Amino acid sequence: MAAVRALLSFLLLLSSCIIPSLSANEVDTLLKFKESLKNADALDSWRQGSQACSNWAGIVCLNGIITGLHLSDMGLSGEIDIDALESIRSIRTLSFVNNSFSGPMPEFNRLGSIKSLLLSKNQFSGEIPADFFSRMLSLKKVWLSENKFTGNIPASLGQLPYLMELHVEGNQFSGQIPKIKEDKLVSVDFSNNKFTGPIPDGLSKFGAKSFAGNDGLCGKEVGKECTDKAEPMAAAEQPDEANSSGQPKGETSSLGTVVWIIGGILVAGILLIVLLSSRQRHDDFRVLEKEKVGEAVEANLPITKRHTSSKKGSVTSKKGSQHGKGSTGDLVVVNNEKGSFGMADLMKAAAEVLGNGTLGSAYKAVMANGLSVVVKRMKEMNALAKDGFDAEMRRLGRIRHPNILSPLAYHYRREEKLVVSEYIPKGSLLYVLHGDRGTCHAQLSWPIRFKIILGVARGLGFLHSEFSSLDLPHGNLKSSNVLLSENYEPLLSDYALHPLMSSPHAAQAMFAYRAPESSEGISPKCDVYCLGIIILEILTGKFPSQYLSSRKGGIDVVQWVQSAISEEREEEIIDPSIMTSRESVSQMVRLLHIGISCTESDPEARTDLREAIRSIEDVQV
Ligand SMILES: *[C@@H]1O[C@H](CO)[C@@H](O)[C@H](O)[C@H]1NC(C)=O
Ligand SMILES: *[C@@H]1O[C@H](CO)[C@@H](O)[C@H](O)[C@H]1NC(C)=O
Repeated sequence: MAAVRALLSFLLLLSSCIIPSLSANEVDTLLKFKESLKNADALDSWRQGSQACSNWAGIVCLNGIITGLHLSDMGLSGEIDIDALESIRSIRTLSFVNNSFSGPMPEFNRLGSIKSLLLSKNQFSGEIPADFFSRMLSLKKVWLSENKFTGNIPASLGQLPYLMELHVEGNQFSGQIPKIKEDKLVSVDFSNNKFTGPIPDGLSKFGAKSFAGNDGLCGKEVGKECTDKAEPMAAAEQPDEANSSGQPKGETSSLGTVVWIIGGILVAGILLIVLLSSRQRHDDFRVLEKEKVGEAVEANLPITKRHTSSKKGSVTSKKGSQHGKGSTGDLVVVNNEKGSFGMADLMKAAAEVLGNGTLGSAYKAVMANGLSVVVKRMKEMNALAKDGFDAEMRRLGRIRHPNILSPLAYHYRREEKLVVSEYIPKGSLLYVLHGDRGTCHAQLSWPIRFKIILGVARGLGFLHSEFSSLDLPHGNLKSSNVLLSENYEPLLSDYALHPLMSSPHAAQAMFAYRAPESSEGISPKCDVYCLGIIILEILTGKFPSQYLSSRKGGIDVVQWVQSAISEEREEEIIDPSIMTSRESVSQMVRLLHIGISCTESDPEARTDLREAIRSIEDVQV
């Protein structure tokens, strides 16, 4: 026994003083990255078995963590394996300067936390999409010089909040130089391209050299006045290969083209509006189609079959005959706060499909008395027989808390259940935060976001005392299940459903099972992990990749925030739209740390919910 203990403490000692080195996984990934390169003699030192951080050419590490790949002047060509780079989350700087890479711009925009992207002196070509840089908000240095890029400078480049160096000289970029956020800008170079039109005001401080070699540019920096004529010309859509000598042939046909284009834009716009408005505010449900809920219920709920062969009409005639108190038809009302209603009212309601979620599909129904409800058709809620289900739903219906949405009614059938709750017009946090930026997202000021975080934490705290016997008192906490009331008070929904579900289905459908330890067992600590994800999501304004089962898309907010904290650059990753005052920034940074302590991968080390609520309350906005 003593020997075992001695061995253990020896191992502990060993592991705490061992020199940090890259994980085997990262070494494999780097070797895979090398495989897609051609002419890679310069990377001969990249070998299995040698220390990557100390011995491999071009690898930059900080305390045993790889932070950069500096592969300049190596004569490399072939493919740049973005998949490999994407899986090494700690990389912040990439340099491929002076190699022989060619082809269109690789998908570096999948690497959301890169700070330096140095691609000068290669053979990259083609246009760069306008929104290419819109998710690379950490970028400080962008060097694209001396390649063969064409087309406009991507507009998203102008929006980067921390951009310090922008070098695009020696390409074939054309069109106007866009406005560039210049508060942090230290150096720019647009020289030797095909830019036209005026030099934006903010950039004039950089002097003539930065703009030389662009015949079409005007402004005092290049000693050519912008005549009145030049401006509208330059302001027009980029003429590209157009024949500037104004050939007569075009006139009618180009007018026709313009009409077609405008028509096309209109149609696309209308389609988009239809899509967005029917997409609605609810959940991560995807749109299916519009249909009447009556038809949907009728089509999918042949609730009268057992009793009568006629399919229509009998639903309403059976009203009230089967159940005692609280039930109307086959709909059991568990919460009278919004009045009583029955299946008949639901079936007469004007309704639309909201979409499909992990637990089933959802409809919105507006009943004749004006009450709007959401009807969720839940499948695979079969763990309890009818009596058990009834008891559970009645218990949920009795819950009263300012941050909890209690269900109003349910309908039970063996294969599927309907759960009815109030429709909340503002929609979910997911929708307001990411749904259609600009209009919604801008409403979420810092005090409102803090209120949401606090309310979610308190609602969760309430569930944890109310359902303290459950493994997962909530079980499915994510931004699509946080609805926002008129004054932005968060309302939790889809909670405490774990006992109703078979375990394989629960493991698949419930977000709490994404907590890192869930394969070894679930506990209320999984809910704390979910709370942490929401906190990080609200502060960064980013869609967490944790919500996607594929993990493809969104941002791994835990990893992202962790690395920002370790590099003491928390402020860079906070949603810029809430960075209003010094004081509030320090509150945000404190909350980032709370979010990280909630997402700690070891549940033992993860903060406890009470403690998390107390720390959030302490921040006090
Ligand atoms: C570019 O890289 C090559 C090696 O591939 C090297 O010989 C050359 O000096 C480099 N050019 C510059 C300007 O650094
Ligand atoms: C431009 O127009 C001239 C005739 O006006 C023609 O000779 C020339 O090929 C045209 N250039 C292009 C690029 O279409």
